[in-house]
Amino acid sequence: MAPVKVTKICCIGAGYVGGPTCAVIALKCPEIQVTIVDLNKARVDAWNSDDFDLPIYEPGLEEVVRQCRGRNLFFSTDVDKGILEADLIFVSVNTPTKKSGVGAGFAADLNYVELATRRIAAVATSSKIVVEKSTVPCRTAESMRTILEANSKPGCRFDILSNPEFLAEGTAITDLFSPDRVLIGSLQTKEGKDACRSLTDVYAHWVPIERIVTVGLWSSELSKLAANAMLAQRISSINALSAICEATGANIDEVANAVGKDSRVGPKFLRASVGFGGSCFQKDILNLVYLSESLHLPEVAAYWRQVVEMNEYQKGRFSKRVVDTLFNTITGKKIAILGFAFKADTGDTRESAAITLIKNFQAERALVTIYDPQVLHSQIWSDLMEASSGVPLETIKRQVSIASSALEACRDAEAVVIATEWKEFRTINWEGVYSHMTKPAFIFDGRLLLDAEKLRDIGFKVTVIGRGERL
Ligand code: UDX
Ligand code: ADP
Repeated sequence: MAPVKVTKICCIGAGYVGGPTCAVIALKCPEIQVTIVDLNKARVDAWNSDDFDLPIYEPGLEEVVRQCRGRNLFFSTDVDKGILEADLIFVSVNTPTKKSGVGAGFAADLNYVELATRRIAAVATSSKIVVEKSTVPCRTAESMRTILEANSKPGCRFDILSNPEFLAEGTAITDLFSPDRVLIGSLQTKEGKDACRSLTDVYAHWVPIERIVTVGLWSSELSKLAANAMLAQRISSINALSAICEATGANIDEVANAVGKDSRVGPKFLRASVGFGGSCFQKDILNLVYLSESLHLPEVAAYWRQVVEMNEYQKGRFSKRVVDTLFNTITGKKIAILGFAFKADTGDTRESAAITLIKNFQAERALVTIYDPQVLHSQIWSDLMEASSGVPLETIKRQVSIASSALEACRDAEAVVIATEWKEFRTINWEGVYSHMTKPAFIFDGRLLLDAEKLRDIGFKVTVIGRGERL
């Protein structure tokens, strides 16, 4: 039998991964019908909204959805119908870190993947290629295969592929349009290779064939964890060096530039910061730690764990520097936090460093005002409630408020903290901000975003991550 020619795709999960990925597949493959299904009706309604008020903010996404929605791209809550009709199913459901039970705090919660897989097994009446797209621990595909095979009906075969997504939020559309690589893992059997070929043909609509890398299932799963762990490791390395810079008067920008010029190291992902966030880095490293421990490799586990510990250290160190600089106390002082998302150009706040900074400032009894250009206020409140484990919202609101502009957040503040690298913070009217702040007026740039010299000329006392006091 020849590889199946894919004509109908179903994507289970209309989130940050499934939504943009399958919207781009629909755009690039007009003859394939793509249906993205999700149990969350509010999310599906937002994807279908007349004014394209999409549930996630991602530059360029709206244009893609405008071009294909209703043509060959559909969003629906009818999961079963999506499964029934498709030849190929992407599983793009959430895989958060487990909060309780075995592996709590480290292992991935595979409940959503399992439920989606069981649904496929229960509903399907014809053969399917099932593609694991969520970031999952090594060997998840094997569990999916066991579930599917144990529940399949006669004449129904399931081929499992691993096709991890490497897009970064904020640049998802450009990443999808021209990926560094597309990775497809399959069993190395004839059937596995045929399924791999079917998915390769989908991506080959726009991705040069040499960028489509085909490997074994487990290599594919492990490569995703490895790629994220190594990227996060670069940030923890540069952040560790930023502490040395601050103590010596060296400048982390200059160090990163000098080091990154070595073509063996390369210039990317060497920007010191208040710490990395996002739904992937910490989760994937902790997965790797858990996997290493399960494989009785404690040294390997300790090695990767340190990348996360360095990240925690960086957030704590930055918070302490704010307190130290403000004459060792911030009790009752107003601090403006600019940025709440975990990075620029997204409204996503998962594991955002801003959450930890604000929690630390709350513990010092400061008064915090937050401004972010994209994050929904309801999201900020729910993140702060979760971080303070059980403190009622009314109590949090005594210390924390949300502003609708940077200028408003900074009014009467003693200090401004840059927590996210939103470009618009560069072009704030800083003279105007200065005139409305309590003096001395402090700025803490946790993202190497602002022109410190210019701000000093205005009169600000500026502290920059990775730069010593002497600069
Ligand atoms: C990451 C991976 O890049 C992507 O390939 C994978 O599919 C998912 O995880 P994402 O989390 O969306 O993507 O964002 P990324 O751009 O990697 O940034 C992660 C965090 O690191 C952010 O908080 C960012 O601000 C921080 N970061 C990034 C730095 O602090 N310094 C840098 O030099 C780069
Ligand atoms: P990611 O960043 O991995 O895309 P998200 O949380 O943004 O994660 O998206 C995952 C989506 O998957 C959510 O919208 C959730 O409602 C959906 N989902 C989870 N389990 C199922 C399921 N069994 N069937 C359909 N949708 C599901």
